[in-house]
Amino acid sequence: MTFNGDSTAESARSLPFVVAITGASGSVYGLRLVQFLLSKNQPIELLVSKAALMVMKEENDLVFGDNLKEELLKHLNLPADVPLTVHSLTNYGATVASGSYKTKGMAVVPCSLGTLGALAAGLTENLIHRAAAVCLKEKRPLMIVVREMPFGHIQLKNMLALSEAGAIVSCASPGFYHKPETVQDQIDFVVGRVLDQFGFDNQLFKRWKSEQKTTLKSNV
Ligand SMILES: Cc1cc2nc3c(=O)[nH]c(=O)nc-3n(C[C@H](O)[C@H](O)[C@H](O)COP(=O)(O)O)c2cc1C
Repeated sequence: MTFNGDSTAESARSLPFVVAITGASGSVYGLRLVQFLLSKNQPIELLVSKAALMVMKEENDLVFGDNLKEELLKHLNLPADVPLTVHSLTNYGATVASGSYKTKGMAVVPCSLGTLGALAAGLTENLIHRAAAVCLKEKRPLMIVVREMPFGHIQLKNMLALSEAGAIVSCASPGFYHKPETVQDQIDFVVGRVLDQFGFDNQLFKRWKSEQKTTLKSNV
C-alpha cells in the first residue's frame, strides 16, 4: 500500500460542508453562500429552519413547496446534479447528526437570536442545533453570522459563550471600503468573508488593495 499525499488532500477538499439558514433577516446571505459553493461543486448539507422559510417569503417573495431541493436549485440557477443534500430538521438520524460523519465544518448564515441561544446552551431541539453541537465537540470550524440590532446582554453573553467554545462568531456587517454599488455587493462582501474563514477561495468582493472581483451571476 502506498501513501499518496495528493489523494488525501483531494478527499479533504471534497468533504461536505454544512450550511444552516435560520430565521434572522437576510436569508439571502445563506442562499448566496449555497449558490457559490455548489457552483464550485462543493458538496453541501443544507438545513433550513421553518422561520427561515417565513423570512424568505417576507423578504424575497420566495415560497417553496414540498420539494425544497428541486425548487431551491431552480431558483439558484443550478443544475439538478450538483452535490446538495437537504435535511429535515427533525431527522436526528441524518448524516450531520453524528460526529463520525466527517465534514469541513458548518456555517449558520444568518443565525437568529433563537438559534444563537440554543447553540450557546447546548440544546439540540432540531438538527441545526445538533449539527452545530457536533462541530463544537469534534473541534470542527463552526461559524455563526448573527443578524440583529441592537444586541441585549443575554445575546452578548451567548456570543461570548460560543466564542469561548471555539465557534467563529460574527454578525452580518458589510464594510464600505470595497466601494459597494449594489445590495448584491454588500451580500457578497459578507458571504465572501464567511468563505474566507473556511479557506474557500473566492473573489466575491473587492479586497483591500486589490482589483479582483468575481462575475458570478446572482439572482438570490
Ligand atoms: C421577516 C422576519 C424577520 C426576522 N428577523 C430576525 C432577525 O433579524 N434576527 C432574529 O434573531 N430574529 C428574526 N426574526 C425572528 C425569528 O425568525 C424567530 O425568532 C424564530 O423563532 C427563529 O427560529 P430559528 O432560529 O429556528 O430559525 C425574524 C422573523 C421574521 C418573520
